[in-house]
Amino acid sequence: MGDEVILSVRNVTKRFGGRGDLIARGLNRLGLAAPRAVVHAVEDVSFDLHKGEVLGVVGESGCGKSTLGRMVAGLLEPSEGEVVAKASGATSGALPMQMIFQDPFSSLNPRKRVSELIGEAPRVHGIVPRPDLDAHVADMMERCGVDKSYRDRFAHQFSGGQRQRIGIARALAVRPEILVCDEAVSALDVSIQAQIVNLFMDLRDEFGLTYVFISHDLGVVEHISDRIVVMYLGRIVESGPAEEIFASPQHPYTRALIDGVPRLDRRRTVYAPIKGDIPSPINPPKGCHFHPRCSLAHARCSTERPLLRDIAAGRQAACHLFETDAKKEFSIG
Ligand SMILES: Nc1ncnc2c1ncn2[C@@H]1O[C@H](COP(=O)(O)OP(=O)(O)O)[C@@H](O)[C@H]1O
Ligand code: SF4
Ligand SMILES: [Mg+2]
Repeated sequence: MGDEVILSVRNVTKRFGGRGDLIARGLNRLGLAAPRAVVHAVEDVSFDLHKGEVLGVVGESGCGKSTLGRMVAGLLEPSEGEVVAKASGATSGALPMQMIFQDPFSSLNPRKRVSELIGEAPRVHGIVPRPDLDAHVADMMERCGVDKSYRDRFAHQFSGGQRQRIGIARALAVRPEILVCDEAVSALDVSIQAQIVNLFMDLRDEFGLTYVFISHDLGVVEHISDRIVVMYLGRIVESGPAEEIFASPQHPYTRALIDGVPRLDRRRTVYAPIKGDIPSPINPPKGCHFHPRCSLAHARCSTERPLLRDIAAGRQAACHLFETDAKKEFSIG
């Protein structure tokens, strides 16, 4: 992993509905709909992605991981802020960013053959010359552990793990530099998960890929990530090297998540229950979003938003406890 920044996420916010939504606005103007509530899916998120790293994005369901991933991959426009891609696109015609979902075929035509699924985008975008396309498809299948003899089969004839391999081959076929994996192994059995994670790691070495690896499953993210971003209700609450975050989580939210995970069987555990429900992103709590559930909350927490600040080399947290005075008072850090 180098220091070269290939993508920069700068103060990115995404709201759904309300005045920002064209259709809702049109209906409102015509008097056909009540003003819609605004969902604050992602709020003022910034980070850099370095060439060759795996950046894990974790947090409970609904905290904005997929929305963030889609903005990173360029599939969704931020409401505010920007995603600046510095991918070199060295290979002519390559598509620098690809996204891999939980079930790559849920949105695809089940009547297409594997060769079509993998070969379509490189053909349409002119990434591989026509005469080389068959060989390219076979090469991608082979590198992803799918037998070449299956090229004429249909997607529905494969198991979940095989389907995900075909999905990965399909993404790789356009020679991306960055893969955004959104719950890419979450639907698979634990043993198959490990195989696909290994495949991702082999492909990183082989193609110099960079990953944004989104998962609600801490065990998977710990295993694969170099660096981790922890999200809560649309905001980053903590970030840093994966090993350090798991060894000594600092933010009260991260601590609650990780302390509750049984160490011997972490891989099977999803999340430790934290007292209280996740508040609605339609009306997030003022100040620190975590304050209604935080055992260390104090007066400031319900009024003032804690900013993400450096707390040690390479580590950041957004919590008032990491301001000098509070540190003494609560004797942490
Ligand atoms: N297209 C959309 N329209 C309205 N709300 C959305 C849309 N997509 C996501 N949301 C909302 O944004 C929040 C974050 O969702 P999401 O990014 O899918 O979270 P995660 O992937 O962490 O589960 C949720 O409250 C979700 O309901
Ligand atoms: S800012 Fe306050 S409420 Fe938020 S995590 Fe820190 S101590 Fe808890
Ligand atoms: Mg999601």
